[in-house]
Amino acid sequence: MSEQQAGRVAVITGAASGIGRGLAEHAGQLGMRLVLADRDPQRLTTLAGELRSRGSEVLARTTDVASAAEMEALRDAALKRFGGVDLLFNNAGVMQTGASWELSESQWRRMLDINLLGVINGLRAFVPTLLEQGRPAHVINTASMAGLVASPFLAAYTVTKQALVALSEVLHHELAALGAPVSVSVLCPGPVASRIMASDQAGAGAAAALGAQLEQSIREGMPAEELAALVFQAIDEKRFWILPHPQFKPALQARTQSILDGTNPVFQLAEF
Ligand SMILES: NC(=O)c1ccc[n+]([C@@H]2O[C@H](COP(=O)([O-])OP(=O)(O)OC[C@H]3O[C@@H](n4cnc5c(N)ncnc54)[C@H](O)[C@@H]3O)[C@@H](O)[C@H]2O)c1
Repeated sequence: MSEQQAGRVAVITGAASGIGRGLAEHAGQLGMRLVLADRDPQRLTTLAGELRSRGSEVLARTTDVASAAEMEALRDAALKRFGGVDLLFNNAGVMQTGASWELSESQWRRMLDINLLGVINGLRAFVPTLLEQGRPAHVINTASMAGLVASPFLAAYTVTKQALVALSEVLHHELAALGAPVSVSVLCPGPVASRIMASDQAGAGAAAALGAQLEQSIREGMPAEELAALVFQAIDEKRFWILPHPQFKPALQARTQSILDGTNPVFQLAEF
């Protein structure tokens, strides 16, 4: 596996913490050259220093994925430094608990801007370059199990993640139609240990109860290093669907079956 990736260039957004950090560390171990982007300059600088001290070549750039101009600048900087890009991880994202009608307009916009437009900005900035290069490349979009099952009091998060699953599938079909050597994966994890709940602008009532439940399951979640190993295995296999938590598959199966049967959806607590 490692020989396959050594020397290749990985761009990772949201690299400074949690899943992104795990991906960066794993890619560094594989000998990849790293382009790390995050809007948190301090954590980013610390991580870049750690990875350089372990021998990785790192370009670290403070970037807000919600800005198309900043994502284009990230691409330009990556090309200037490394001459090409092989893996693009559109990973940055934030959490927002709250019922559909209770979230404020600014909370909805923040979620759409970061979780959805952030990935769209990544695709618009980098996919033309990947196509021009004409060599194998891979795009990995971090969605969530929330991208596959609908969770109450997680309205904005669920909407953005389901949109990312759809966007990833569309992209996969588009690249296949072009016969391009660029593959796509959509990463749909359950709980992974990270700082994501720190980005939640906590609500009240049922949303607060869900927040507390999520906080615990994320604290006890899969270590990011373990997730990263599964993700790179899927990349090597050019596998589109990455579902690292098999315990959530029955909920997905039940949802799919209810669509096919025309029965009403039933929420299963096990979905958390
Ligand atoms: N942790 C989980 O249980 C879990 C489960 C499923 C999906 N995810 C998804 O994984 C991705 C990574 O989240 P995480 O759990 O590692 O959280 P995290 O908060 O630990 O890391 C996210 C990183 O993204 C950065 N970020 C946030 N907004 C940004 C922006 N606008 N521009 C650039 N960087 C930004 C943060 O500064 C942070 O370093 C997210 O898309 C999240 O929705 C997480």
